[in-house]
Amino acid sequence: MKALILAGGFATRLRPLSCTRPKILFPVLNKPIVEWIMERLSKNDIEEVIFAINNQTACHLKQVKIPNYGMKIAYSYDPPKKPLGTGGAIKRAEKFLSDSDFLVVNGDIFADIDYSKIIEMHMEKRAVATIALHKAKDPSRYGVAELAENGRVEFFVEKPSTWHSSSSLINAGIYVLNPKIFSYIPRGRKVSLEREIFPILVKERTLYGHPFEGLWTDIGKIDDYLEVNKVLLEMFHKKTEGTFKGEGKTAPPAVCGDDTFVGRESVVGPYAVLGRKVRVGTNVQIRNSVIFDGVSIGDSSVISGAVIGENAVIGKGVRINENCVIGDYAVIGDKVKLAKGVIVCPAKEIFEDITTPKCIF
Ligand code: GTP
Repeated sequence: MKALILAGGFATRLRPLSCTRPKILFPVLNKPIVEWIMERLSKNDIEEVIFAINNQTACHLKQVKIPNYGMKIAYSYDPPKKPLGTGGAIKRAEKFLSDSDFLVVNGDIFADIDYSKIIEMHMEKRAVATIALHKAKDPSRYGVAELAENGRVEFFVEKPSTWHSSSSLINAGIYVLNPKIFSYIPRGRKVSLEREIFPILVKERTLYGHPFEGLWTDIGKIDDYLEVNKVLLEMFHKKTEGTFKGEGKTAPPAVCGDDTFVGRESVVGPYAVLGRKVRVGTNVQIRNSVIFDGVSIGDSSVISGAVIGENAVIGKGVRINENCVIGDYAVIGDKVKLAKGVIVCPAKEIFEDITTPKCIF
């Protein structure tokens, strides 16, 4: 079977980090999320992957080498300056996918799913589309489905503003589609699969749902992104020490990339991910945070619950609090304190305390 990875969105909710990289290249435990997705696809016998991308993503993919995990790779490009939405991007890839049923995966999800089960259900029901469904505490942020006993979707609504249903099954961003789907999607304009096409299939009784229980999360927002790193640290690095040069210590779970240095009396963790070539001075504390490649952090700084973008420079005695996001190449001067929720745009230089949550352009 072939798989289409949807990877041409603009990831507006992940700004400012998505200003400088597409969502599929966001590192999760130091590995781009797309590699986690591809690894799983190859283990599920997928032979060919088609990326539905825009120009921005295409530029980044030229610079970053993503392993193909033994699968054939093809690209379907959104037209320049014209985002097509999820449905439009699928229609655009029709020439690659018109010969048999195929899998579609959003490029921003981490899902512990056995693809063969959803494929089996889809084939058995002869569905036009089958959606993987997962339980969520707050369904209102997602597409919500209600199922009939035979697994047919009786009701589907995308991001309901008010929530009256008893169902907490949400669209997990994984679909199996029959090529008939192409006849439902108008060509050449932006189309949302979830908002425009699924409701038609519900009426025609050809949309099915496959609930699954393994780990599922997307990285749609910064707190989701921190959470997925946290959950995977818990799974894979509960006891392991981060390996780095220098005399610093790790408080597991924590992980560090290659060529990272942590100075004496510094503590990395719990729940810290340090990328490659990170330089941490002495007496620094980093917890509940993700630090991208090439960041340098001066002596006696404290970083808690934050994401620090690539090559940012954090001075000495700096305090960065929960939900702060520091863009790539930003500079935070010595002794600066950032209140909770401060967002700093890429390459911005800050030399004064920021005492309220705000975005610094
Ligand atoms: P936000 O702007 O933060 O909502 O992010 P997003 O643009 O990624 O949108 P969303 O999370 O709804 O997208 C779900 C998946 O579809 C992601 O993997 C996107 O990359 C992808 N996607 C969304 N819109 C498009 C599009 O216009 N073209 C292509 N090729 N993929 C898209």
